[in-house]
Amino acid sequence: MNLLRGRCNTRKLRTAIIGTCLCHRALSSLGRIPSCTALKIAVVTGSTRTSGPPSINGPRIASFVRHELEERGNTIVAEIDPRDFPLLEKPEFAHHRRTVPKPLREARAVLEEADAYVCITPEYNHAPSPGLVNVLNHFGSSVFSFKPSAIVSYSAGQWGGTRAAIALRPILSELGALPVSAMIHIPNAQDAIDDDGTPTTDPKRWKEYCGRCFSQLEWWADAAKNHKEIADPFEESKPFRLTPSQRNAPKKQ
Ligand SMILES: Cc1cc2nc3c(=O)[nH]c(=O)nc-3n(C[C@H](O)[C@H](O)[C@H](O)COP(=O)(O)O)c2cc1C
Repeated sequence: MNLLRGRCNTRKLRTAIIGTCLCHRALSSLGRIPSCTALKIAVVTGSTRTSGPPSINGPRIASFVRHELEERGNTIVAEIDPRDFPLLEKPEFAHHRRTVPKPLREARAVLEEADAYVCITPEYNHAPSPGLVNVLNHFGSSVFSFKPSAIVSYSAGQWGGTRAAIALRPILSELGALPVSAMIHIPNAQDAIDDDGTPTTDPKRWKEYCGRCFSQLEWWADAAKNHKEIADPFEESKPFRLTPSQRNAPKKQ
């Protein structure tokens, strides 16, 4: 059935399901559409500056990304602002369960609730935003693991933050939030996107460009989410409870 092929059609079917109140499980049993709820996406932004020059681009890029994600039918469960985090003193996982500070506990809850992540980073000296990396460092990989991520980068120059995006990949990989292959790079951010998050030229082309990346994110998020109903990903890949050296190869005592 054509309708059941591909994410785009799946989206249409989801809309139809919601509209007609068809039972998700009934369709699931056909083995064709195992998930029918909107994906929950947590966005982590990287902009921390409050005044220029150069001009501040973080808010316009965040609103552009938010709009693109929501237009595709996703729900943004959180937009995490690095300015709400202190420089890393003690990660969330290092606290005793009963004494985790409230902001960290709340952030963990939304990060855990998310099916997928979108990280938006400016390029500062060919590197990702230290504020964004600081946020990520507050949480252990068990929060992010077995869920995909997408990277959006931007800069004032012509490379659109590509170098920052590439450097962010291994960090997300280490956290288990595997980055999808397509990324979104926004060069000349101050001219490319309006203050309200609208592309200044060729919105159709921008939509296609974002669609390539976000459709990959949605595909993997759906797949991961559905497969968790069949197999517990943490069964043999347990969260590190004691020390990161738990990941090391065996050695002679
Ligand atoms: C400290 C600093 C370092 C920067 N380094 C780079 C860089 O390496 N490459 C680049 O293309 N743009 C660079 N830029 C330009 C930023 O990418 C651009 O100003 C962007 O808008 C910054 O994001 P923000 O406005 O959200 O802070 C730099 C800007 C600042 C403030």
